[in-house]
Amino acid sequence: MRKNFFLSTPIYYVNGDPHVGTAYTTIACDALARYKKIMGYDVYFLTGTDEHGQKVEETAKEKGYTPKEWTDVMVPRFKEMWKLLNIDYNNFIRTTEERHIKSVQKMLNIVYENGDIYLGQYEGKYCISCETFVPENQIAGDDCCPSCGKKLNLIKEESYFFRMSKYQDALLDHIDKNPDFILPRSKRNEVIQFVKQGLQDLSISRNTFTWGIPITFAPGHITYVWFDALVNYVTALGYENNPEMFDKFWNNGQTCHMVGKDILRFHAIIWPCMLFSAGVKLPSSIIAHGWWTSEGEKMSKSRGNVVDPYEEVKKYGLDPFRYYMLKEVQFGNDGDYSQKNVINRINSDLSNDLGNLLNRSLGMYYKYFDGKIVLSDTKDLIDDEIYTLWNEVVKEYQDSMDISQFSKALESIWRFIARLNKYIDESSPWILAKDSSKTSRLACVMNILINSLYKIALLVYPFMPDSAQKIWNQLGVNKNIKEEVIENLSGWDTLKEGHQLGKAEPIFPRIDAEALLKQIKAKNINPDLEIENVIDIEDFQKVKFNVVEILEVSLVEGSNKLLKFKVNLGDHIRQIVSGIAKYYPNPSELIGKKVLAVTNLKPVKLKGELSQGMFLASEDKKNGVRLIVVGNDIELDAHIS
Ligand code: MSP
Repeated sequence: MRKNFFLSTPIYYVNGDPHVGTAYTTIACDALARYKKIMGYDVYFLTGTDEHGQKVEETAKEKGYTPKEWTDVMVPRFKEMWKLLNIDYNNFIRTTEERHIKSVQKMLNIVYENGDIYLGQYEGKYCISCETFVPENQIAGDDCCPSCGKKLNLIKEESYFFRMSKYQDALLDHIDKNPDFILPRSKRNEVIQFVKQGLQDLSISRNTFTWGIPITFAPGHITYVWFDALVNYVTALGYENNPEMFDKFWNNGQTCHMVGKDILRFHAIIWPCMLFSAGVKLPSSIIAHGWWTSEGEKMSKSRGNVVDPYEEVKKYGLDPFRYYMLKEVQFGNDGDYSQKNVINRINSDLSNDLGNLLNRSLGMYYKYFDGKIVLSDTKDLIDDEIYTLWNEVVKEYQDSMDISQFSKALESIWRFIARLNKYIDESSPWILAKDSSKTSRLACVMNILINSLYKIALLVYPFMPDSAQKIWNQLGVNKNIKEEVIENLSGWDTLKEGHQLGKAEPIFPRIDAEALLKQIKAKNINPDLEIENVIDIEDFQKVKFNVVEILEVSLVEGSNKLLKFKVNLGDHIRQIVSGIAKYYPNPSELIGKKVLAVTNLKPVKLKGELSQGMFLASEDKKNGVRLIVVGNDIELDAHIS
């Protein structure tokens, strides 16, 4: 019987666009889901959007939408991003869907009937950005949220409370008996310590705004957004409307939630307590990952350093981007997104190691055997090392993937790749090819390489699905790699006698690091930019700019360079002389135009004509000198600064 595996990303808030942080969780889940599929599991991979709550309501208002309209605008942006990143999910859940509303109400009612919900008064601090209540002893600095640093709001309202404290011991006991309940293990202690400090009852209703799921037993109250959001996982599996599927994946499967470290407590504490109370089985594991910074700094819109997956995929290609994210940091730790490191990884791991192995192997097979498989069993002792290493590598790979240690799994594959590159040098096919009595040995060496590449492709598939398929295609294998399972990889003669290999084409082109970094630098804001001839704001404020309307223009007598202009400043008329005749052979075209001028320069006489100001003009190679013309919507008395 097939084993079942359910995996979820967090559901994302729709107050902003997806970015590299949200992309990371989703790519990691996609890799894990694909891995489980090639391990023969029946996989259900869920993602979606968290659409209720005060933050979404406020963002929608700011943007001039109703909350529902706003969520409808944002959801396609997430779906497009997941398409771009080749995320192969089974279901996309939105918390505004009817199936979810019913599911939340069902769980709330059960918990209520169980006596675990009571009416009280909430008075305390709330972070709208994190949608979380912050107890007094956790408030940071000057009334700020300990997690995001934003200012807290004081809330004082009637609220229903969930008796979370009741489940403290049961939760500790569960964590204790299930060592893989919280992964990586390093995060487990953090949660245990927190729970041991004492669990407080949780306020789970709000009545001062309306964008949420109504509580059926409490008119006027809506569900606190986390009590709503967490339920999405069971909604999707049919908690309320599909008992068969719920039974298959939730009750009889391995169930995992992948989350960022910032939301681990919601998943490892509140969610299990809700499930205890509702009489529903707990998930098998909650896997937490760290946070990304960008070039060593916290990512933020105001710093302008938020990494945009669209840009990255455009620069590096999708699979190298996915590879980098999962290779660069040990899952669970924080990581830093650095362009230099992305390029190094691509050039060394992908182009040099894997790319070269594929190119060299295929190139030689064509050179020595016209690209047609010739079977041979002329083995050598050194071959055993490869076979043994392969067995070790597959085991290590599985052990690492089973606990979401992606970078470790990749290290194991690359250990094998490095060994094979060395194997080529050690067995020197080019020397064997010179001696006709060694043809059989040559074929054996080449087959080991080609079969290894066939296997490697499947191991890298969860990380780089398209590239894995390309490797197979280049080996002349036209099967859909998505349908293969690791179990089938044991043999060393997958490709049969006479099999025609495909064409070698570079899958991971080398990146010209210097040129690309230069390009990136030119596009980014440089905080250390050297500014020439710096002035203070006081210097600038001395200059008076005006919008002036050109009323008349004529050549200054005795000059073929100077034009004199009569200009209107709104409250008076002036004369300005300007040396732009060459650039305006037909100066009357300027009459009626509004242009910019400096109007507090000391008046001067030019060729005997008084000039009481100076026009601002641009100069470039294509157009020569042009006056800065402003739109008619700017008034003559406008203050320019
Ligand atoms: N809506 C809640 C989750 C509810 S799940 C029942 C939420 N949404 S979120 O959009 O703010 O964040 C979703 C995920 O993105 C979290 O796992 C968070 O850790 C992750 N990341 C956001 N910024 C990140 C980084 N800079 N780096 C890594 N991941 C980060 O929380």
